[in-house]
Amino acid sequence: MATLIPFVGHAAEPVKIGFLVKQAEEPWFQDEWRFAEQAAKDKGFTLVKIGIPNGEKMMAAIDNLAAQQAQGFVICAPDVKLGAAVERAARRYNMKVISVDDQLLDGAGKAVASIPHMGISGFEIGRQVGQGLANEMKSRGWNPAEVGAMRVAFDQLPTARDRTMGAVAALKDAGFPVTNIFDAAQAKTDTESAFNAANILLTKQAGMKHWLVFGLNDEAVLGAIRAAEGHNLGNDNVIGIGIGGSKTALNEFAKPKLTGFFATVLISPKRHGYETSANLYQWISANQVPPAIIVTSGVLMTRINQQVVRAENGL
Ligand code: GLA
Repeated sequence: MATLIPFVGHAAEPVKIGFLVKQAEEPWFQDEWRFAEQAAKDKGFTLVKIGIPNGEKMMAAIDNLAAQQAQGFVICAPDVKLGAAVERAARRYNMKVISVDDQLLDGAGKAVASIPHMGISGFEIGRQVGQGLANEMKSRGWNPAEVGAMRVAFDQLPTARDRTMGAVAALKDAGFPVTNIFDAAQAKTDTESAFNAANILLTKQAGMKHWLVFGLNDEAVLGAIRAAEGHNLGNDNVIGIGIGGSKTALNEFAKPKLTGFFATVLISPKRHGYETSANLYQWISANQVPPAIIVTSGVLMTRINQQVVRAENGL
């Protein structure tokens, strides 16, 4: 018996979107995923979350998405230099891509123009960190000559460099002595690497009475705070300000005893998770191309004002 296929017009295909992140264990990325799930529920698409700690896993994840008929993905790559590889793979599979957090670079070191991006305004947010450090140091009446400023550095990642150089600029503007600013270069962007980097610097500069600490994210600052504790430098001697405002910072604020982790600049995992995936959905389903670049802002959050600040930011 012949099967008749009724004419029903071109039914919209179900949309499937990947959300690939470089460090799935980091609270920031878990928050992004959570908000992307919310967008998937609201808009009615399927979300596939995959951790991509290195280039090989990243390529395998993209192949895997193509095999599942996904039409696109949001990505925070393990290395921004993989931009050309991402672009090629997406083109091969006819998938649309949006980058989040870390903007992808092409072979010439320029931002990949065909991939829309959402990231934080790194230098400005870094400035907020630096201003916060300078203000707190002033209110504690520390003598700048006895204060070291530690830049937990990961300069191969442009947003990390922007953020920490923004903090340096603000410290200089506040009159902080440039010769007291030191780099502690981390090998990876996690707490352990920051701990190791800070430990070396604190040993070298053992004469400093007080420390200001800043870095790419909350994990970088937290690692340095833990290292300082090992050198008998606690809340009284250390002011650390991170960037993020996820669980890493909140856990630290929740400790009964104050630590050197003084504050963080709260940024928006909601915008980065929800908006990127919703924009990608619109692009796939309605051919609405997202803005080439969206930069998001942040706000200083301390243990004291955390409830208010988080509520004001829809968290
Ligand atoms: C980078 C960092 C993350 C987080 C995001 C925010 O990817 O590695 O920890 O700060 O930026 O955009």
